[in-house]
Amino acid sequence: MQKWIMSGLLGVAFIMAIVLIFTLPGKEEVAKEAKPTMPEITLNADQADAIIKANCISCHGDQLQGQVGPNLQKIGATLSADQLYGIIKKGKGQMPTFQDRLKDEEIANVALWLAEQK
Ligand code: HEC
Repeated sequence: MQKWIMSGLLGVAFIMAIVLIFTLPGKEEVAKEAKPTMPEITLNADQADAIIKANCISCHGDQLQGQVGPNLQKIGATLSADQLYGIIKKGKGQMPTFQDRLKDEEIANVALWLAEQK
């Protein structure tokens, strides 16, 4: 009787271990989620300007002076292009994510442009 219970418990533990192995994301996957890598592009200031006018000034102000969202006029002094890319792609607090609305290259371009604003 006891043997039967023991092997039953072992079986359950074994199944749970297998399920965990397949459902927990690997370390690499987690790192990738947290910090998306920016595609390598060259800055196109006109395109960045147009994207920002269409998507960002409603919250950050027409001169990026700040409104609902914070002032971005000197954002390059505190955040790198990589960090900006992550924030625009994934969002942050009240800041919406843009990964469904803009292409990665467009987000990267805006990030590069903002990184120059110091
Ligand atoms: C719906 C309003 C809204 C829109 C649209 C919006 N933002 Fe934001 N953004 C915010 C808010 C609110 C924050 C502050 C988030 C926080 O820190 O919790 C923010 C924060 C940021 C930050 C981080 C600033 C910092 O000091 O940490 C950056 C960079 C940024 N926004 C860039 C952009 C860009 C680029 C766009 C257009 C592609 C954009 N935002 C569109 C509301 C918006």
